[in-house]
Order: sequence, then structure tokens, then C-alpha cells
Amino acid sequence: METPGNHILVIFGASGDLARRKLIPALYALHVNRLLPEKFAVLGIGRSAYDTGSFRNYMDESLEEFSDDFHDDQQFLEKLDYLSIDPSVEDSYPLLAQKLEEIREGHSIPENYIFYLATPPSLYDVIPGYLAKNGLTSEHDGTWKRVIVEKPFGLDLESAISLNRSLLKVLDEDQLYRIDHYLGKETVQNILVTRFSNGIYEPLWNRNYIDYVEITSAENIGVGNRGGYYDRSGALRDMLQNHLLQLVALVAMEPPSEISSHTIRNEMLKVFQSLRPIKKEMVQDYLVRGQYMESHVRGELQKAYRDEEGVPEESRTETFAALKLYIDNWRWGGVPFYIRTGKRLPTKVTEIVIHFRPSPHALFCSEDAGYNSENQLVIRIQPDEGILLKFGMKVQGAGYNVQNVNMDFHYRDLMNADIPEAYERLLLDCMQGDSTLYARGDAVEEAWRFVAPILERWEQDNKFPLYGYPCGTWGPEQADLLIEGERRTWRYPCKNLADDGTYCEL
Ligand SMILES: NC(=O)c1ccc[n+]([C@@H]2O[C@H](COP(=O)([O-])OP(=O)(O)OC[C@H]3O[C@@H](n4cnc5c(N)ncnc54)[C@H](OP(=O)(O)O)[C@@H]3O)[C@@H](O)[C@H]2O)c1
Repeated sequence: METPGNHILVIFGASGDLARRKLIPALYALHVNRLLPEKFAVLGIGRSAYDTGSFRNYMDESLEEFSDDFHDDQQFLEKLDYLSIDPSVEDSYPLLAQKLEEIREGHSIPENYIFYLATPPSLYDVIPGYLAKNGLTSEHDGTWKRVIVEKPFGLDLESAISLNRSLLKVLDEDQLYRIDHYLGKETVQNILVTRFSNGIYEPLWNRNYIDYVEITSAENIGVGNRGGYYDRSGALRDMLQNHLLQLVALVAMEPPSEISSHTIRNEMLKVFQSLRPIKKEMVQDYLVRGQYMESHVRGELQKAYRDEEGVPEESRTETFAALKLYIDNWRWGGVPFYIRTGKRLPTKVTEIVIHFRPSPHALFCSEDAGYNSENQLVIRIQPDEGILLKFGMKVQGAGYNVQNVNMDFHYRDLMNADIPEAYERLLLDCMQGDSTLYARGDAVEEAWRFVAPILERWEQDNKFPLYGYPCGTWGPEQADLLIEGERRTWRYPCKNLADDGTYCEL
């Protein structure tokens, strides 16, 4: 793989959680794999009173904690610099410009910059505005400037449109990299390869052969110490509007004419534009929301969402959402997509299940044991990344009883199956100027447009049901009814309890 052009990466919010847990470890992994440019520096920005020495010590400790194979690598730590300024104040930017010039001169780095916004979202339009005002975003004499914007990109349709407008006033779309870290996951990209590099799936990948599609993204943890943040967001904004709809787009899109940022993102946009709008008055027919309640899970008492730190006692924020949607186009007409996400569910898993239609005639159906096989293609995004095909086989012995069996591929069985973290791939792509795995502004707005009536209905109707569900269960039973009412069922990915107390594949 080609190494990217020489540049400086400026991280705003470098003293924060994301930088120490994800960004710096991802950069370290790129360094170990020799994927960083020859001339490269990281400039951390924050109000916290670090200097370069103490920032390096802090990152040294963070790398010990969050990188498997880090051992006091001075060669990497020497790439880190720090400037203590307040990025919300205009006067800080001449200091930033001066510091960048010093680093460039010291390391002979051209005027190529990536600005990573890992600050609270309220600064996502402020910082690029000040950068532009101080000439730090203008591309001249072959230099480039890119801005990575963290999630959340807006809190609703209006705020997303307004943020896009502010950013596009000072930057071109191709300078903008909107993170959806799901797109950086190896197995998510593999959806494209599975679909479009194999001749066997695509002929079946349509309404004629697929009965329904199911996407589950479950977490077994609660909101932890992020209750205050989460309560303003909820499952719909935090997971469904962005990550799960991106997965829907990858499953449902048409083949692009070539693998490029433009063509792939065009096809993804078309999926969002084809989502059947859910009318505000009809939301209850398409969506179930829930909130976790206190209960014992494997002998341990887990508290209710409303008892979490930073969460109001009367909170009506959803920690679970299940949604039925349709894509009104020729490929998917009439095929429901059921998507669900939640916290404090039985396990941590993200998977896509393609449920194929049953065979037209149940030849092997018998009263005692036999039944028609369930053909499912399960794309496991995390953990235990892989692909599983379920189909029927004859049970040995007399008669024709059918049993479902698995053809199971695990990424971990591949040679060199060291799956890179999403942030490694995304940072490297941005360094190389490839925005394929970043969300485009028009697509983000379309996804918000789709969920807007749901948010409006919740806002206007405080009696819209919010069902409680005990921690450690698959959400409220109304979510089962949403799908079972149509003679379909959720796949329960992990029903067995392994010896170590975690759930495992049946
Ligand atoms: N943490 C994650 O795993 C994660 C995952 C996905 C997305 N994100 C997104 O990434 C962004 C950063 O997340 P984080 O968890 O690192 O957040 P964080 O720890 O709360 O904040 C990051 C840094 O921003 C600076 N900051 C906070 N308030 C500020 C203000 N009013 N003015 C100027 N600077 C301010 C702080 O640095 P100083 O006090 O030193 O200035 C802080 O260290 C957030 O928007 C979040 O939504 C985070």
C-alpha cells in the first residue's frame, strides 16, 4: 500500500477520551505497519495545560493501556506535539498558524494539513470558520487541507443542514471527511466485496429471492458515565440514523460502475432517497422504542437507565429502538428491513441477516421432526467477524428429516487476520485523500430526513409508548410483535451461555 503524502495532523480535543482511546492508538498502529508518511507530525490542541513533554507522557500511558504491542516507542512519541489554546476563541488561531509553521520548518513538511475535530459538536462549525479566516484551509501550490468531523453530525435534519451549510461556506465538499466509524470496519467493507466480487449472490439479491433483511446492533453494556450525553441523544440518533442506515445502504445499493468515492457514495445516496417515508401519524406501526429497567443478569444487579449517573429520573430517552422500513425501488419493492439496536441486551453483536424465501413447496415437511430449511446469510460485523450460511441437510437415517446446518467462515481463520481498527483505516484513507468510507453531506441529510418524522412525533406526543425491558433481554416484546405479526422472527444470535459467562453462537 502506498504511504500518504507528508503532512501534519492537528487533533482538536487531543486531551479527550477519543484521542487517547482511539486516535493515538490508531496512529501508532499505522506507524508500526509503516503506513505513516516519512515526514509526519501530530499536533494536539486543547485548553488543558499540557506542554509537548507532558502530552507525550500522557499518550505514552494511554498507549500502554490501549495498544496491545506498545513499549515506550520514542520514535513514535517524538512525532507528537501539543499546543494549549482555546479553539473556541478566534485569537488562538494566529498562535496555531505560528506553531504549524515551526513544525513544518523543523521537519521540512509541506503545507498539508488534516484537522481532526474531536471536540464537543458545538465547535464543529466554529473551528473550520476560524481556520479559514486565518488562511489555514486554503489549498495552493499543490498543497491540501482536509477536515475530519466526528459524530454526531447534527441532532436533527435542521441542525445537519445548517452544519453542512456552515462547513461548505469555508471548505469544499472534497475537503470534508464526516466520520461514521462503522464504515471503517473491515467487515462492513466486506459487504461490498461479498456482493460484488462473487457471481453467486447478486442474482439472488432482490425481492424475488429475499424475504426480509434483519440488522441487529446490540450492546450488553449500559450508558456508563456518558449518561448526560446519551440522554440528549438516544438510540435513534446515536446508532440508528447513522450506523444502521449506512449498513442498510451497503446491503441495498446497486453495484457502482467502479470502486471510487463518487460512484459508491452516489449509489448509497440513492438508497436513502428511496426509503419509504414514514408518516408522523404512522410511526407506531413502524417503530418500537424501549428503555432498560433494573434486573439481575447472571446474578448481578444491573441498574435501570433512569438510575444511571447524569440521567434524569423521569427520562423518556430510548435505549432501544426497532424499526421496520421499506426501500421503494425495483430491487427491494415489498421487502421489509427490520433493524434494531439497544443497550443492556444479552450480548455485544452487530450482524446483518439476509433471510431468503423458503423453497416453493415444502417437500420434506413432516409432523414429527422435519421442516423446510431456513436459508439465511449472516454477515457478522462484530465480534467474531465472518460470514455464515445456513441451509438444510438431511438428518442421517431413515426418512427425509431436514436439519439446519452452518457453513461458517471466521476472519480469524485467515492468515494474517489481524483486523485493523476502524480508525486506522479511516485515518489512512483521509491521509490518502480517499473519502469513500466517509459519509457525504447529501447522504447525511437524507438519512436525517428519513428519521425526522419519528423525532417530530416523539417531540409532539409525550404519550408515544416507551416500553421498559429488563437488562439482559432482547428489548421489549413489542419489538418481537413488530416482526412476528408478519410471520417472521428476529434471529437470536447468541442463545448459549459459554463457560466464561459470555453468550456464544448456537
Ligand atoms: N469517545 C468516543 O469513543 C467517541 C466515539 C464517537 C464519537 N465521539 C465524538 O468525538 C468528540 C470527542 O469525544 P471525546 O469523548 O473525546 O469528548 P471529550 O473527552 O468530552 O472532549 C474532547 C476534548 O474537547 C475539549 N473541549 C471540551 N469542551 C470544550 C469547549 N467548550 N471548548 C473547547 N474545547 C473543549 C476538551 O479538551 P480541553 O479541556 O483540553 O480543551 C476535551 O478533552 C465528541 O464530539 C464525541 O461525540 C467520541
